[in-house]
Amino acid sequence: YMSTIGTTVSKSSARNFASLPHFDRPTYLMCPPEWYDINYVINPWMAGNLHRPSRDLAFTQWKELHSQLQRVADIRLIHGQQGLPDMVFVGHAAVVQHGIVALSSFAHPQRQTEERHLRRWFETAGFLLWETPRETAFEGEGDALFNAAGDHLWAAHGVRTCLQSHRHIADAWHTEVSSLHLIDPRFYHLDTCFAPLAGGHLLYFPGAFDKPSLARIEAAYTPKMRIAVTEAEATHFACNVINVGQEIILGQTGSDLGGRLEALGYNVAEVNLSEFIRGGGSAKALALRLSDTRVTHQARG
Ligand code: ARG
Repeated sequence: YMSTIGTTVSKSSARNFASLPHFDRPTYLMCPPEWYDINYVINPWMAGNLHRPSRDLAFTQWKELHSQLQRVADIRLIHGQQGLPDMVFVGHAAVVQHGIVALSSFAHPQRQTEERHLRRWFETAGFLLWETPRETAFEGEGDALFNAAGDHLWAAHGVRTCLQSHRHIADAWHTEVSSLHLIDPRFYHLDTCFAPLAGGHLLYFPGAFDKPSLARIEAAYTPKMRIAVTEAEATHFACNVINVGQEIILGQTGSDLGGRLEALGYNVAEVNLSEFIRGGGSAKALALRLSDTRVTHQARG
């Protein structure tokens, strides 16, 4: 299978596993919005928003997100590139765990040029690179998320990422993978409708999934551990959260979701990310996890 789809593992894979990057603190990668804009339409949110984001406002909002995240995590930066307006959504560039990085193969040509910049950044930082073939699209943490324990991968298909990529991605860590089918074009990435939280909870929008996928989710998370958001919350990107231990950072949901999460023991910070929502992304899409997911409670999801 791997040889037929042309997997290549870079020469950095020859390095000793013990020398792979390791983070003692939660660590994320972000990309400042110097070149952020909406130049094309590749998701329903971008329609009607061509060139509408204010870059000044986007910068202010991004800096607020950065300073909220910096309270609880270290942040590395990658420079944006002129002509790559979506590179700010660095959460879709890869999935990282144990110093191994599964690099994305973007579905749309408009974002494929981002790949070489990210590959170079990860190579320089000493990560082990796991390439994904062009013919099986895969969009990083947009469509593949580890559970809190870090031993199970949830991967979506149906819009951007191909089902055929799931097994290949999971093999980077020899981990189990469950595939979920996305059926609503507004929720075109898994991270728009599904967020495993460190406390073992799952924040999700049930309407984004087909029946067998919902059954899989419900088999893994007991009713007590499932936090379903409403359609109105989901369309405010309520599931697109950054979660570090008990801290949750998200865009403004205009609802009582923050209170519901706080009742479960989380601390919630809401940041206005309106300019990025025009592009189809919110908090989670603007930061890529580099450190490992960790168990903070006993719950397993
Ligand atoms: N314009 C970007 C794209 O369509 C936005 C990505 C935001 N995605 C997300 N999962 N929140 O690729």
